[in-house]
Amino acid sequence: MLKLRPRRLRLNENLRSMVRETNLSVKNLIYPLFVVAGENVREEISSMPDVYHLSVDNAVELAKKISDAGIPSVEVFGLPEYKDDIGSSAWDMNSPVQRAIAAIKKSVPELVIVGDVCLCQYTTHGHCGKLCGHYVDNDETLKLLQKVAVSQAEAGADIVAPSDMMDGRVAAIRDALDEKNLINVSIMSYAVKYASGYYAPFRDAADSAPQFGDRKQYQMDCANVREALKEVELDLAEGADIIMVKPALAYLDVVAKVREQINRPVAVYNVSGEYAMVKAASANGWIDERRIVTENLTSMKRAGADMIITYHALDVAEWL
Ligand code: PBG
Ligand code: ZN
Repeated sequence: MLKLRPRRLRLNENLRSMVRETNLSVKNLIYPLFVVAGENVREEISSMPDVYHLSVDNAVELAKKISDAGIPSVEVFGLPEYKDDIGSSAWDMNSPVQRAIAAIKKSVPELVIVGDVCLCQYTTHGHCGKLCGHYVDNDETLKLLQKVAVSQAEAGADIVAPSDMMDGRVAAIRDALDEKNLINVSIMSYAVKYASGYYAPFRDAADSAPQFGDRKQYQMDCANVREALKEVELDLAEGADIIMVKPALAYLDVVAKVREQINRPVAVYNVSGEYAMVKAASANGWIDERRIVTENLTSMKRAGADMIITYHALDVAEWL
């Protein structure tokens, strides 16, 4: 007779729950918001069902709902009212992002607010920095990113999350924050951000597609994992409080390696393309949305993620 039978511990749900190694919690989730100018705006993003462009008033309403659902955090993205070649609306205190951060902080003070620090939504050319010809000038861009991070922190962001992939931006942002005595504002670095086809729905939603070329001179090559560890090492040395890997699903090996190597929290971004694939297949009845989303997010945790930025957050909160 067999002595070892792993099936013994799978006999019923209570037994399974006792030996479960990974438990997804609503406390692991961060919900992304897209804010726009105007009042009472709530427009669904066509490639991202159930995700909306919201004016500040509606973003505050949703933030209350998010907090009531037990989700601890939101990440704020914005569509500005004007664009120029350096993306100066990104640090305008009257822009939708800064106004939304301030309004959410006022109405839902316990919610942890993450500000996405980048320039691509705000530049006419759609690149994540200041151009010199067709080249994104790294060090000139750092000065602009400092302004964006400080403006969001001054508006009330608890965490700033640079997603531009310039070299040295974590140190530059830390310096700028500390100089303004914003010492308790954390930096969640998009340390490992791949040049990915999975961002397509987001670029429609945020109107941030590059107008020429691509982002491969600053975002990472999807073939590389040693390089991911190098990026992480640099950002840790520069003072990142949280390290992010993005996208999530196709990069869980990277998440696992990063988790093994570091002792700071790891975040993953379950990006727009991952979301859109699940929504499209479930809308067609080809997969069971709840099962697939739970399986995907549990796998991200199993790989080592402490927190997950996901457009599924509100649904998951309801299911759990
Ligand atoms: C911009 C930015 C991107 C995302 C977040 N911030 C996309 C990009 O690099 O074009 C992607 C988010 C998603 O796809 O859900 N720096
Ligand atoms: Zn960008």
